[in-house]
Amino acid sequence: YGDFNQKIDYVFKVVLIGDSAVGKSQLLARFARNEFNVDSKATIGVEFQTKTLAIDQKAVKAQIWDTAGQERYRAVTSAYYRGAVGAMLVYDMTKRQSFDHMARWLEELRGHADKNIVIMLIGNKSDLGSLRAVPTEDAQEFAERENLFFMETSALEATNVETAFLTVLTDIY
Ligand code: GTP
Ligand code: MG
Repeated sequence: YGDFNQKIDYVFKVVLIGDSAVGKSQLLARFARNEFNVDSKATIGVEFQTKTLAIDQKAVKAQIWDTAGQERYRAVTSAYYRGAVGAMLVYDMTKRQSFDHMARWLEELRGHADKNIVIMLIGNKSDLGSLRAVPTEDAQEFAERENLFFMETSALEATNVETAFLTVLTDIY
């Protein structure tokens, strides 16, 4: 897929949501460019990156949107969710509050997005296992109840990041 004039069969918009500092921007940096920045700055407004991959021999361009977890830096909500076919609902597994807020983020998502949107719940920062504040079972239970995929990831160590995005993109496809 290094072709300059590559033909794109599908474009899938996927949005990242969750509290500030849970690692949304670094999950995106890891997935799109295989990069990680320890000094990641809080996102202001909206950014997006694309990555083209092959699914079932089709060229799928994933357009991943990233916005601020902080209310004051957030862009117009309805525009952010418009056309999204996938969503990554991210909490920090070392911050209980970021998990407790998942219900609110999910409510906002369901209020604005298409009803068939594919959603993945992500417990990020699994490299900080000794600081865990959210048991895997709590998240699993929430995901089952709400009909979401669920994975624990580390953007830092590149654990499950590719798998998480691929699971969503393949399910959309
Ligand atoms: P907002 O843009 O404010 O909504 O935050 P965000 O969710 O985009 O968080 P960001 O990706 O900027 O990461 C916040 C902090 O967590 C940074 O210091 C990152 O380096 C760190 N971080 C992100 N992912 C991981 C991870 O998997 N493990 C560890 N240990 N730190 C991480
Ligand atoms: Mg960010």
